[in-house]
Amino acid sequence: MPTSWEKNMFPRDFAWGAGTAAYQIEGGWQADGKGPSIWDTFCLEKGRVFGEQNGDEACNSYELWEKDLECIQQLGLTHYRLSFSWARLLPDGTTRHVNQKGVQYYNKVIDDLLACDVSPMVTLYHFDLPQALQDQGGWKSAGTATLFNDYAKFCFQTFGDRVKLWITVNEPYVCAKLGHEDGLHAPGIKEPGVAAYLVGHNMLRAHAMAWHSYNSFYRTKQKGAVSLAINSDWLEASVAGCAEDVAATERQLAFTLGWFAWPVFVTGDYPKIMRSAIDAQSEKFGRSGGSRLPSFSKDEPAVLGTADFFALNYYTSRKVEAGGGCGEVLSMKSDRDARDVLDPSWPICGVSWLAVVPHGLRKLLKYIKDTFNNPAVYITENGFSQVGQLQIEDVQRSEFYKDTILEVAKAIQEDGVNVRGYFAWSLLDNFEWADGFSVRFGLFHVDFADARRGRTIYRSGREYAKIISKFQCGQ
Ligand code: NOJ
Repeated sequence: MPTSWEKNMFPRDFAWGAGTAAYQIEGGWQADGKGPSIWDTFCLEKGRVFGEQNGDEACNSYELWEKDLECIQQLGLTHYRLSFSWARLLPDGTTRHVNQKGVQYYNKVIDDLLACDVSPMVTLYHFDLPQALQDQGGWKSAGTATLFNDYAKFCFQTFGDRVKLWITVNEPYVCAKLGHEDGLHAPGIKEPGVAAYLVGHNMLRAHAMAWHSYNSFYRTKQKGAVSLAINSDWLEASVAGCAEDVAATERQLAFTLGWFAWPVFVTGDYPKIMRSAIDAQSEKFGRSGGSRLPSFSKDEPAVLGTADFFALNYYTSRKVEAGGGCGEVLSMKSDRDARDVLDPSWPICGVSWLAVVPHGLRKLLKYIKDTFNNPAVYITENGFSQVGQLQIEDVQRSEFYKDTILEVAKAIQEDGVNVRGYFAWSLLDNFEWADGFSVRFGLFHVDFADARRGRTIYRSGREYAKIISKFQCGQ
């Protein structure tokens, strides 16, 4: 079992990447004809974001893209994951009006990457719906999925000659739950127990339509691959032998990873445990007139089989206990009736939700292999945040990257998981959604107090670059 770096630990063509998302880095929120997105709107509302901050300027990557490219080269990345801002390309969300300046911007980014031998992985939707579409119901509206499909086709057509790895939707769980159940993310809707399921459903429909479009019209010529990025913690029963905790863990897994992975990889429908748990609560609270969890229509493109690889965003692990829905009527919490607890032996880093558990990633990868028929897996996000006193010499995060990447190597070598790539989150310190700029995930520090937005590599960035060079040249 590998405990330190060994030759040939990673396949020669392994993708070594880092990721970002448009709203978190670009700035230029009104530049050159970009339309507003739900995050532009959300940040204007008082009390939504830490310190009333916003992504109006962020890292200013819209103007400083060349600096990002230098960072990418300094790390020696083989791949870079970025997202397109839908409203920069299509200001009102529809293909009726294309913003050519937006097209030019992303063309330049893609061409520059390729000129440096770096392959782009592009996410089409990373939390920033055009406001114009929110005004028509947003992700609660079935029509948004159709408009997403139009947008996806536009992107495949325009950029697909050069982009070979596509992510349709990033973390539908987070969009659905934080955006429409808890009200903590844009669009800030708090409709517990109902809206999140509808939103998740429309996102899955949107993803499936886009995958089918790619499959039918672009795949033969462009030879790329399409998936959706699913976030999941590794979950374990709080007390291993306790039947209630074990059942709660299964429910929790069904309501997180299973919610999106089951329809796409296993059955074309939601996990049975999820549907029965929701139905049981609905009856209890007098809403027996049909499930709150929608059903997939046979008249629409099938959801099953619509992923060319498994894209996993992994950050942390949790222990699960039964209970937790107490007093909450019709919320996801009451539906799943399970509660997360932390193992006290796991160190917490930066944000409160992030316990550092590198070995959880290996276990989750093995679970994915066993449950979803050994798919090719890209770890599309994994990272570690800083808050408070800034450390350019971030020793703890450097260790975190080493430990985590070693766990990935074990998953490949010992467990036979078909891991094809690893993307650190994030290339740069950036706008961390409701936490604003107070939480830093970057491999490069960004000086937000200075208009030039200087980028400085952290020790963890240097460490990651060393690891990459070992496996890029040393084989
Ligand atoms: C996942 C999200 O995709 C990304 O936007 C976010 O910054 C990281 N998690 C860290 O919270």
